[in-house]
Amino acid sequence: MAAKQHEILSKDARDQVVNSMHSVLATLIDMALQAKQAHWNIRGPRFKSLHEHLDEIIDELRPASDEVAERIVTLGVPADGTLPALTKGTALATIHTGFLNDQQVAEGIAERLSQTIGCIRKSIGTVGEVDPVSEDLLIGIVAGLEKQLWMVQSNFLEA
Ligand SMILES: [Fe+2]
Repeated sequence: MAAKQHEILSKDARDQVVNSMHSVLATLIDMALQAKQAHWNIRGPRFKSLHEHLDEIIDELRPASDEVAERIVTLGVPADGTLPALTKGTALATIHTGFLNDQQVAEGIAERLSQTIGCIRKSIGTVGEVDPVSEDLLIGIVAGLEKQLWMVQSNFLEA
C-alpha cells in the first residue's frame, strides 16, 4: 500500500489554487522568454539601458516562476511548465519577431508586464478565497513586477 500523502488543502480548494497558479506560471515563463527576445533584438539610442534592464526584469521573473511552480508541487500537484502548457496558459500575445526599435521594446514590454500583473492580480483574487499562503506568494511577486513596470514606462511617459 502506498504511503499516505498529507494534504494541505481540500481537493476543491487545491484545484482552485493550482488551476489559477498554472496560468500565472505560464505567463511568468512567457514574460521571461519575451523579455529575452527583446534583449537580443533591440536597436536604437536607448539600446544599452533597455538591454540591461531587460535582464534585470528576467532576474525577477525566473525565481518568481520557480516559486510558483514549487508552490503548486507543495500543494500535491505536478507543475507543468512545458511548451504546450505555456502556449495554452499564457495571458500574453507574442512580441514582434525580428529587430525592434527601443521605443517598440519599451512599449511592448510595458504592455506585457501590465498583462502579467493583471493575470497575477486576478489570481490573487481567486487564490485568496481559499489559500492565504499562496496569495501571499503572489502578492510578493506582483509588487516587484509593478515596480519594474514603473521603470519601463518611465522610458516613454512624459514628465
Ligand atoms: Fe545577454
